[in-house]
Order: sequence, then structure tokens, then C-alpha cells
Amino acid sequence: MKVNFYTSTREYNEKKAEFDSAIFNVIQNGISTLGKQVGDFEKAVEEYTGAKYAAGVASGTDALVLASDILGFKDGKEVITSPFTFLASTSCIAKHKAVPVFVDIDPETFNIDANKIEERVTDKTAGIVPIHLFSQMADMDKIMDIAHRHNLKVLEDAAESFGMRWKGNGEDYIHSGIVGDMGVFSFFPTKTLGCYGDGGMIVTNNEELGKLAKIYRVHGATKKYHYEYLGYNSRLDTIQAAVLSVKLKYIDDAIKKREIVANWYKERLKGIEAVKIPKGAVNQKQVYYVFNILAERRDELAEFLKQNEIGYSIYYPVPLHLQKCFSYLGYKKGDFPIAEKTCENILALPIYPEITEDEVDFVCQTIKKFYK
Ligand SMILES: Cc1ncc(COP(=O)(O)O)c(C=O)c1O
Repeated sequence: MKVNFYTSTREYNEKKAEFDSAIFNVIQNGISTLGKQVGDFEKAVEEYTGAKYAAGVASGTDALVLASDILGFKDGKEVITSPFTFLASTSCIAKHKAVPVFVDIDPETFNIDANKIEERVTDKTAGIVPIHLFSQMADMDKIMDIAHRHNLKVLEDAAESFGMRWKGNGEDYIHSGIVGDMGVFSFFPTKTLGCYGDGGMIVTNNEELGKLAKIYRVHGATKKYHYEYLGYNSRLDTIQAAVLSVKLKYIDDAIKKREIVANWYKERLKGIEAVKIPKGAVNQKQVYYVFNILAERRDELAEFLKQNEIGYSIYYPVPLHLQKCFSYLGYKKGDFPIAEKTCENILALPIYPEITEDEVDFVCQTIKKFYK
């Protein structure tokens, strides 16, 4: 049995008529940049997440770059973040000559260890970029408390966390991305809400920041050919927005199915000593964008899965403080031992709403066979 790490074709085939009609509508009515479908999708995301302002941009990476620029993460300012993430969470800080300051992660959640943030705050610190990885959000109560006491801006890298909601010690669940000052989503195809190419979004509850996001995505123009800022050309594509609006209608069902799949894995993998399953989150609503295990002899297991035609992914094989592009920051091996160890053991298994129980069964049987 071949099990893909991810496939979009099953979902497409299930909802072919809707996707086809959404895409053809855009083309038939005349292609336009920032067309009606973009505005409609932004409104739908505002409704779903509770964000007051949403601006569609070309990718999650661009969303981070624009938001960092708007929040003033530049010119020697320091920004505290985690080294265990995708490049874009940190390159957005470095792009404008701000200095990424790493702190290690929590071994249970893989998110930034909020207890280690405050000791890295200096008089140059401008902000914090927490990343909500895989299935749960970083400890936003602690992060927001530090930010308020030190007057720091918080940019949530919510690229992976569409649907996740934070409660903490509060009364209500607040969608990821709008707990801090600004947040970003990625609509990369594999994401919980993914399009058929690239797409991203900036969300905020701050009117001024929301306005700036829409100005920065069109070259910094407040009016056509009138530029108040040095901005970007970064718009969510109209066809992708049409696809995303179809998918957003079914997002709660997709999230529920991901949870069912995660439970299949948890039931079948428990008891394998060499495999550790990450703990569930408390005080927040989890979404299984990625299902990870921590595996002994991870690379050998990965090879065995490959031989058995099972897709997997390793998020992330090398922490950012050890990447060549950040060598100028002067970090070395051993600086963030938990992030480094996690990079050696972590392995993501296939999870998407359309995966079948038989396929999950086969993945788990194969893992058991490997460790026998
Ligand atoms: C944590 C994180 N940040 C940023 C990004 C960048 O998003 P995109 O691929 O849409 O540029 C991604 C996704 O790939 C991500 O997982």
C-alpha cells in the first residue's frame, strides 16, 4: 500500500464541481488582481476568526515580512523568537536588519519556552515572534504578559495554526493570530486551510495596523500611484482566494477529521517504547495540522517508511541557529539543546482529512515492524 504524505486530489475529486465553478467564475468575469473573491475571502476569515482586519497577501512568508516591517522589527532592534521553526519565521526579522534573538523550546509542545523569554529582553528588544507549531499554540498568556510589561510588539507566526484558539487563563477562546498585535496565516497547499499554490494573510484587531497591511501590499500606495511608504507587491491571488473560500466552508469538518486521524495514530502507536507521542494541549483548542512522533533511530525509521512507500516529513532537520545563513549571529551547537535534540528525533506522519483508517493502520503496522 502506498500512503502519500499529502495529496490534494482526493479533496478536489470530492468537491470538483465547487472548485471548478469557483475558479471558472474568476476567469469568466475577467481576471483582476485583488478581485472581489479576495475581499469576500477576507471577510469570511474575519468572521471565522473574529479578527477585525484581514489582508490577503502572496504567501505566509510575505505576510511575515510585511508585518515585521510595519511593526518596526528593523535596524538593529532585537526580536525574540524560537530557533525550531521554518526559515521564514526568522528571515522576516533579519530581512530588515533587526537581530533575531533565540530562546530554546519547550520539549512537550515544541513551541518557544515562554519561561526563558524575559531573561533575553534588553533595551533594544522591539518584539517577540512566537510560532504556533504543528498542533498547538505557544503560551500566549506568558508571552503577552512579558510584552505588556516591556512594551514589546507581538507578531504571531500563525502560519501553521489556522483554527487553533487560545484560552489560557481567560474566559474566551481567541483565534491564533489575533492574541498579539499582528498575526499571519499561510495558505501553502499542505496547511489546514491550503490553496492550490501560494497564499497568505495578515490579521490584526488594530485598525491602524490593518490599514497599513493593505497599503504595504500594494507598494505602499494610499491611492493609485501615490506612495506614502516603501511597500511591496504582495497580493493574494484572486483564483487562490476563490479556492480558499470553498475550503473555508468545510474547515470545521476538516479539523474534526484531522483530530480523528490523530486519535487513530495515538491509539495504534501507544505502547511502542521507542516512539514518544506529544502531549495534548491544555487551555486551548488544538488543531492537528501536523502529527509528529519523537522516534528513536529516526533516520533509520524514515528510510524504512520510504522503502514501504509511506510518505513522511521532517520538520525540522536543522534548527535555525545552526543554519549557514544565520552563522553571522554567532550561535553554536549546544546553545539550544532541546531544539537540537528535537531535530534529531522528530518525524511527521501523513495526516489529512481524506486519509483512510486502513492507511493509518498500515503506517502504524510498519512502524511496529521496524521496532520489532
Ligand atoms: C511556521 C511557518 N512560518 C512561515 C511559513 C511560510 O509560509 P509560506 O510557505 O506560505 O510562505 C510556514 C509555511 O510554510 C510555516 O510553517
